[in-house]
Order: sequence, then structure tokens, then C-alpha cells
Amino acid sequence: MNAIETILSRKSIPLMEDPKPSKSQLKKIYKAGLRAPDHGGLNPWKFIEVSGKDRLKLGKKFVNVTKKVKKNPSKELLSKVKKAPLRAPLIIITIANIKKDKPIPEIEQILSAGAAAQNMMLACSAMGFYSIWRTGHLAFNEYINKSLKLNKSDVVIGYLYIGSSSKKIPSPKKLKIEKFVKKLG
Ligand SMILES: Cc1cc2nc3c(=O)[nH]c(=O)nc-3n(C[C@H](O)[C@H](O)[C@H](O)COP(=O)(O)O)c2cc1C
Repeated sequence: MNAIETILSRKSIPLMEDPKPSKSQLKKIYKAGLRAPDHGGLNPWKFIEVSGKDRLKLGKKFVNVTKKVKKNPSKELLSKVKKAPLRAPLIIITIANIKKDKPIPEIEQILSAGAAAQNMMLACSAMGFYSIWRTGHLAFNEYINKSLKLNKSDVVIGYLYIGSSSKKIPSPKKLKIEKFVKKLG
């Protein structure tokens, strides 16, 4: 598949299985992340890799964060977040490592981390893997930062769930370009 075909055929799926990317494939995925556009060359990114039994540790962290963020969370919700990391064999937690002392606005550093996330997802697609970007109440808050031992100024911008699927995945919906594009003037 060429680059355009890879981009156009990328499809998020909620549940994935083994195999996950190998070490050398992961290296390519990170290299793709590190090619994100980056105003001022700040490298405003951090990645936390979670796989195997570490996913259970992440599930416990999700439970603790949910208890802080949500008022009286239901048993069902707590059980759901505890098991959430088992939805794929690999999760890359993507973080905007904000450089507060630099003149580049925080939003631009967050956008750069978002571009890194998308580059990594596309690298996954190019190598035949699936992925989905998730956030919800487990991102963008001080509790998750504490739980992951991040700086106060860091921003968890997404959990990239990555893996394989033996199921037939429907093609992505085609949107009408004219609905989104107009000419200036
Ligand atoms: C910043 C961001 C956060 C997202 N968070 C979630 C999420 O928490 N849960 C979810 O089901 N989808 C989430 N999505 C949407 C999915 O990643 C995915 O894009 C969506 O299911 C549409 O599928 P597609 O990527 O194949 O078009 C998020 C997307 C973005 C860009």
C-alpha cells in the first residue's frame, strides 16, 4: 500500500488481539511519532508503553483515577475501566510534554503531540496493525498525571490502543469533500 492508500484505509477498531508490533516495528512507530511537526524544535512529547501484565497495573490506575474524577462511580464503570487496557495487546500513552518556559503556545505543543499520535497510528496501519485513540475521563487531568508520575504541566492527550484483528473490518465511511471545503472569496 502506498502512503495515500494507508491514510485513506485507516480504520479504528475497539478490540484488538495479538500479535502486537515487534521491537523493530515499534521502533518505526516511534520514529514516525518523532517526525511530528514541531514549532521551535521543542520535542514536546513523551510516550509510555504498556503491554503484558503492565496492562493490569494500568487498569488499577484507571480505577483510582475514575474514583477521583467521577462522583460515586458505579461498580460497572469501575469494572469497565479496570479491564479497559486489555482491549489491545499494546497501549502507547501519548503525552504532550509542555515546555512552559518556551515562547511556543501550549496549544501548539499539544497539537504537535496529536500529530505524533496520528503519525504513529498511520505507521501502525502501514505495517498491518489496527489502532484506536481513546481519552475520556482518563486524560487531560491532574489525577492521571499523578498516577503516571508525570509533570504537572504534562498533558495526557491519548491512549493509542494497538494490535491485530482477525475479523473483517468494514471500510471507513466516505465523507463528501464539498461539505468541508470552500474557496476564499
Ligand atoms: C482526541 C481523540 C480522543 C478520542 N477519544 C475516544 C474515546 O475515548 N473513546 C472512543 O471510543 N473514541 C475516541 N475517539 C475516536 C476514535 O479514536 C475514532 O477516531 C472513532 O471511533 C472513529 O473511527 P475512525 O478513526 O475509524 O474514523 C477519540 C478520537 C480523538 C481524535
